[in-house]
Amino acid sequence: MPDTTKHLLLVEDEAPLRQAIAEQLSDRGYHVEQAESGEAAIARLADFAFDIIITDLRLPGVDGSAVIEAAVARYPDIIAIVVTGYGTVKDAVEAIKRGASDFVSKPFQIDELLHVLGSSLEQRRLKSENAYLRSQLEERYRFEGVVGKSRPMARLFQLLETVAPTNSTILITGETGTGKEVVARAIHLNGPRRMHRFVALNCSAIPETLLEAELFGHVRGAFTGAVGNRQGRLEQAHKGTVFLDEVGTMSSALQMKLLRVLQEREFERVGDSHTTKVDVRVIAATNSDLARMVAEGQFREDLFYRLNVIPVQLPPLRDRKEDIPLLVQHFLAILRNGAPTALTVSQEAMRRLMSFSWPGNVRQLENAVERAVALSAGRTQIDVGDLPTEVQKAQETALTTAVTLPEDGLDLDAFIADIERDLIQRSLERTGGNKGKAARLLNLKRTTLVEKLKRLSSPE
Ligand SMILES: Nc1ncnc2c1ncn2[C@@H]1O[C@H](COP(=O)(O)OP(=O)(O)OP(=O)(O)O)[C@@H](O)[C@H]1O
Ligand SMILES: [Mg+2]
Repeated sequence: MPDTTKHLLLVEDEAPLRQAIAEQLSDRGYHVEQAESGEAAIARLADFAFDIIITDLRLPGVDGSAVIEAAVARYPDIIAIVVTGYGTVKDAVEAIKRGASDFVSKPFQIDELLHVLGSSLEQRRLKSENAYLRSQLEERYRFEGVVGKSRPMARLFQLLETVAPTNSTILITGETGTGKEVVARAIHLNGPRRMHRFVALNCSAIPETLLEAELFGHVRGAFTGAVGNRQGRLEQAHKGTVFLDEVGTMSSALQMKLLRVLQEREFERVGDSHTTKVDVRVIAATNSDLARMVAEGQFREDLFYRLNVIPVQLPPLRDRKEDIPLLVQHFLAILRNGAPTALTVSQEAMRRLMSFSWPGNVRQLENAVERAVALSAGRTQIDVGDLPTEVQKAQETALTTAVTLPEDGLDLDAFIADIERDLIQRSLERTGGNKGKAARLLNLKRTTLVEKLKRLSSPE
């Protein structure tokens, strides 16, 4: 049998604290060695490959960050956890940048440390399991209602299969309509919490003042209108999963409280002095660029790290056009609803569907299919005329490279303006609306692009 005992190096200069932690970890089955200084730790690392290192950040002499750096440089797969003093989360974030896997702040309960250890070990296991799964050429076109066969979707399904059975926090990013919510549900339904609730909360749909009560609940009299005690969404999701949509819109006060939930799985209901504990898996989603919001100081960096344990990126539909026929079939099957014959889609209509850029992604495609089914009532086939006008036109713009001059001529300025508008639109879509990047794609100055945009979008 392989030896599965984890070897752990504990670095802490305060002997009684070190002794106490070491004992508790040994009780939990870890093989613990102790070092009382950074120098001693680095020396010990040189001749033994530990699985885990836990180090205090502030040490006399060589400090914790340097220990982490040395450990990670030597063993890229080591799990490195830093222990920070109160209020030095910034330093912890710095240590994470240097390669630490996670951190706990002092004073901490042993359970918190064990939780952090557990999820770090899980992440490392996922990393190797993922590599194994990737090597298996297994084809899968759907995952619990999420459909796709493009490469990015196949990769997504593999990732979902590995993360669904765990408790790791997940951050799903993607443009509107790319399926963030269906993916979150699919994760829940494939994990051990499937017997419990999946509770969704859209943080941007609720006024800031009510969001806190919605999330954490409230006690009687906490604010005007709070007539009774009420459970928040977190408590409703106890033992299940809570899905926090548009998490980027949370105020900084709420971000702070959410961070505590992620770290300690506890919070207070609004107006309550007593603390409530929950066991929830958190899946968050956003269609804004959280990393940029962190850089601009609009989103807490420590919360970002806590949420982004497993990032799941959903590609826009225009980057996986090969999924369109499959999705169309999927929606047709749902809409068929027991009808005796299945509707088909003409090849020409399918070509238009595949050349459109779908700024509203899968949701927009779903709506277009639903509309086409209604319009084609009484026929057996969906045709180009059943598609929304902008989709009907898609093919025409894609064909502009083979322009022919119609018999009766054309309006050159209007024609060129059309092409310009289309290309600017596409470049903006491709860059997620970033005008600077879009301008570079078209070899324009940003100001020129903005000017053109104004001119092209204002009606004559
Ligand atoms: N891969 C997919 N397979 C099947 N259906 C999908 C897929 N992706 C999205 N859908 C469907 O498209 C619609 C939009 O999906 P969803 O609500 O999950 O998007 P979203 O990313 O949360 O959008 P928003 O940012 O606007 O909230 C839903 O009806 C969903 O069922
Ligand atoms: Mg959504």
